[in-house]
Amino acid sequence: MTTVTLPPGPSAPRFVQGARALLTPMRGMRRLRDRYGDAFTVNVPIFGRALVISDPAEIKQLFQTSPDLADNLDRNLGRVLGPGSIFALRGEAHHAQRKLLVPPFHGRRLAAYERIVEDETVAEMASWPQDRPFPVMPSTMRITMNAILRAVFGAEGAEFQELRELLPRLVTVGSRLAVLPVPRNLGRFGPWARFQAIRDEYDAVVDRLVAKAGDPADRDDVLSMMLAARYDDGSPMSRGQIADQLLTLLAAGHETTATTLAWTVERLRRHPDVLARLVEEVDTGGKELREATVLEVQRSRPVIDMVGRQVKADSLELGRWRVPKGYAVLVSIGLIHDDDAVFPNAGTFDPDRFVGTRPDLYQWIPFGGGTRRCLGAAFANMEMNVVLRTMLRDATLVPTDEPGERWHSRGIAYAPAKGGIAVVRGRAVAAAPAADAAAEGASS
Ligand code: HEM
Repeated sequence: MTTVTLPPGPSAPRFVQGARALLTPMRGMRRLRDRYGDAFTVNVPIFGRALVISDPAEIKQLFQTSPDLADNLDRNLGRVLGPGSIFALRGEAHHAQRKLLVPPFHGRRLAAYERIVEDETVAEMASWPQDRPFPVMPSTMRITMNAILRAVFGAEGAEFQELRELLPRLVTVGSRLAVLPVPRNLGRFGPWARFQAIRDEYDAVVDRLVAKAGDPADRDDVLSMMLAARYDDGSPMSRGQIADQLLTLLAAGHETTATTLAWTVERLRRHPDVLARLVEEVDTGGKELREATVLEVQRSRPVIDMVGRQVKADSLELGRWRVPKGYAVLVSIGLIHDDDAVFPNAGTFDPDRFVGTRPDLYQWIPFGGGTRRCLGAAFANMEMNVVLRTMLRDATLVPTDEPGERWHSRGIAYAPAKGGIAVVRGRAVAAAPAADAAAEGASS
């Protein structure tokens, strides 16, 4: 029999621990760390019994562990995003799919998308009220949705409008179904039937986009690159795989980027010195501090708090622990980012800590790590940089001395509770050179 070595943790029943995790997400984790140290065990809905780690060496070891020993946690995503979704794939199938999807998201390709992101930001900012508080998140959600539809789906015209209307509905119903054990056989009236009806509409639009794609060599959207891509055996991606993957990219990339941007506004309004330096930098065509700011927002306000793996081997040796088969290992992004030993004065918002240096990708981990590290990290960094550059160039963001906004769980991403309240004025200053290559940051 394999011996198990695990740290202690709270003994309250699963639903109580789950409710606490939901109600006080960040504070709850810190309380557990203060009580038990940098690793502890929990018992929560969805994940079940899990080891939570935040020690840098153990995190690195987990991210470097072969997927044969510990692979992605199965959280029903395949049911919702489709069996071809990269989230649903394991082992060799996952590896093959990633090989096909990495090139379209490589840093080199991203310059082509900057103009789309800038145009969407300018269009959205035209609707902003002047000198009146408003939550910026609905705007950042529209910008990131439209950017993905145009840059990833290659959608324009009628298909763009249709997808803009139906995808939020699909994602909303889908994310509920991903976490609720609702049976499929509730006939024509259950949530699955509603979900399937929207999914059918979505598949029909993707079919039209594929038919219109023409010669992929003339286009630079991700869909065209998927159509041209070939697996090692020479076969193309099927339409079903393409539809599942496009939906996955939207679900993974839309809200995460939008909430990070809302936190950026929330943080900058409370750090007027950084804000003033960023405006000066934009006016002179620089980008170093802006790139560092995006990194620091993601360090201090990571919108995904945990990534997890499930132990597949009989047991997994992980630093001080020996974890049994079936157990989940959760990496607490919030705790390592908040560790003074890793990021000195971690409680302080200080973009200068990343100026002139690149973060260690096993310690700065808003995009997870290893073989499942976020595929859209470079795309997201480009997007956040271009949106921030455009905002700073075309509007004056008014500072505030109000207390910081609290964390609010939106299901997957943690957003500022009030949606990132902004107050802006138009800028009289002429626009600065806009053509600097946006950051790939640490992620390309
Ligand atoms: C600030 C924005 C974003 C954040 C914070 C974020 C975060 C993450 C995290 C934490 C993971 C799991 C990594 C792991 O398990 O180790 C992930 C996976 C993924 N993300 Fe992102 N993401 C962002 C934007 C995007 C964008 C823009 C796209 C695509 C357009 C995208 C596509 C994906 C995909 C496809 C995966 C699955 C990778 C795999 O399983 O191999 N993400 N992301």
